[in-house]
Amino acid sequence: MSAIRANPMAPDPWRIERIRRETPDTFTMELGPVVGETTRPFAAGQFNMLYVFGVGEVPISISGDPTRGTSLVHTVRAVGAVTRVMCALKRHDVLGVRGPFGSQWPLREAEGLDVVMVAGGLGLAPLRPAIYQILARRTQYGRVALLYGARTPADLLYRRELYRWGARADMDVQVTVDRGDNAWRGNVGVVPRFIATAQFDPLDTMALVCGPEIMMHFTLLELQKRGLTAEQIFLSLERNMKCALGFCGHCQFGPFFECKDGPVFRYDTIQRWFGKREV
Ligand SMILES: Cc1cc2nc3c(=O)[nH]c(=O)nc-3n(C[C@H](O)[C@H](O)[C@H](O)COP(=O)(O)OP(=O)(O)OC[C@H]3O[C@@H](n4cnc5c(N)ncnc54)[C@H](O)[C@@H]3O)c2cc1C
Ligand code: FES
Repeated sequence: MSAIRANPMAPDPWRIERIRRETPDTFTMELGPVVGETTRPFAAGQFNMLYVFGVGEVPISISGDPTRGTSLVHTVRAVGAVTRVMCALKRHDVLGVRGPFGSQWPLREAEGLDVVMVAGGLGLAPLRPAIYQILARRTQYGRVALLYGARTPADLLYRRELYRWGARADMDVQVTVDRGDNAWRGNVGVVPRFIATAQFDPLDTMALVCGPEIMMHFTLLELQKRGLTAEQIFLSLERNMKCALGFCGHCQFGPFFECKDGPVFRYDTIQRWFGKREV
């Protein structure tokens, strides 16, 4: 840990080393430290606070490989004031980084079980480190399924990796879009529809879910139809954040603070508040 990180509110400077455009409004950037550190370990499911100097700070999931600790990878969609400026940054520009923060996907607890991952849109970004980690220790898990849905073919993230993962015999990958185009030959339909036919044993399965809340709502219904209990399902949730340290209360969700108790929650712990506004 560098000296600067002794103050958890002070961002450390990290430089953009590589940028890859994923879709018209989404890009993936790889950051390297400017001073001091050589690595910044993180767990799959955690996020960093990224600060665009003079503009503002936003929480962004870490979307890279936890076993490759020398760079930090984030996938960002331009939706508002900070992320739009972030999307216009270039290679060698410097950002502030605080983190990593938050809870993680329960990959140790999932060992010996089947794992089904369900992602909608940008929800694939926080799941990608879990996929890397599961594939790195593939023999520790039973069947592994990834169900991923995007609005259109142009909105699909990580296309090359999706293709590589889909080509593996030890992973069931179902990619779907809400609306196809003339070139699209794949699945069309919302992602929860594919849960009915995914290969897993409901008695011995852990489900990891991330996406828009409406997609997660229907995913939960389908997983429960297949026989999964709330204890077998983990969700990653999004709320507004400011401090990311459990101080300011911005991210309150029922009795929890998303920044330190989440963003990954076991469903039974948050079931009472999930889907309710302003809790
Ligand atoms: C734990 C956590 C992890 C996150 N991980 C990622 C990530 O990996 N990549 C990423 O791009 N974003 C991620 N987000 C969301 C990201 O933090 C917000 O999109 C960002 O704060 C928006 O800031 P802004 O200043 O650009 O937009 P604002 O000016 O705050 O918002 C502009 C408008 O966009 C809307 N908006 C805000 N967030 C979203 C959203 N996610 N989708 C659609 N509309 C939105 C707002 O309601 C508002 O109307 C994450 C959020 C959390 C809490
Ligand atoms: S962001 Fe301040 S308490 Fe969570």
